[in-house]
Amino acid sequence: MTGHSQAKEAGIFVRLVLLGAPGAGKGTQAAALAAHYRIPHISTGDIFRQNLSQGTRLGLMARGYMDQGLLVPDNVTEAMVADRLREADALAGFVLDGFPRTLPQADALEQMLAGWQAELTAAVLLAVSAERLVARLTARRVCPQCGATYHLAFHPPQTAGVCDRCGAALVQRDDDAAPTVRTRISVYEEQTAPLITFYRARSLLQEVNGEQPVDVVTATVIARLGGARP
Ligand code: AP5
Repeated sequence: MTGHSQAKEAGIFVRLVLLGAPGAGKGTQAAALAAHYRIPHISTGDIFRQNLSQGTRLGLMARGYMDQGLLVPDNVTEAMVADRLREADALAGFVLDGFPRTLPQADALEQMLAGWQAELTAAVLLAVSAERLVARLTARRVCPQCGATYHLAFHPPQTAGVCDRCGAALVQRDDDAAPTVRTRISVYEEQTAPLITFYRARSLLQEVNGEQPVDVVTATVIARLGGARP
């Protein structure tokens, strides 16, 4: 029996995919849901950025795509996620933020989980209008040290430019410049939006209004998934 199927036997198996356009709030909600369910928040964007800051080959390769707002090739991303999901902390569940993002990636995830006799709990779609996405991303600030996310208007830090959590100077992500944001939204519409149909066909889709306040979105998702911790 694999580690994943043993975890299922033990009844601990909240496995979530967060879907939504760039800026829909996937990272924000994934952090809150991971804390609630006590499962890891696995963000492919964060793993690429971490590799980039460490100057690894993976990071340098990914940068060429990320800076243009394009997707890193499927084979690279799928292998990276498969390795991450085999780590011990992911056996009791996970929140995937930013993966899958193409139909081949969704197929790959389905096959990985089938191989481990594991199943997704739900694919949560955070629905936010295009105008709001641009406003959210161009005013987003992130902490390069601890990864905390802020917004200049909706969620400002207590001291301007300084992370509440660790005190580091906040920065703007390179791909949050307005022209790159527009490319990212187009890439989402073309390559990622078809996953809505993919997960709806499997009765896994939970669509939530992502324009509500952060804590209301979190509470709505938890209520849809059945409330209590596993
Ligand atoms: P990634 O880092 O995944 O970026 P993204 O999907 O474009 O999503 P974002 O991180 O920009 O937004 P989010 O939805 O997490 O929103 P957030 O919570 O921060 O990917 C970056 C790049 O990596 C890709 O372009 C690609 O190149 C590559 N990549 C990653 N995964 C890949 C894959 N699977 N395949 C291939 N390539 C891949 O919120 C945004 C802002 O809004 C914040 O300021 C926040 O404070 C604010 N906010 C959030 N929720 C609310 C709310 N309810 N009300 C008001 N403000 C809110």
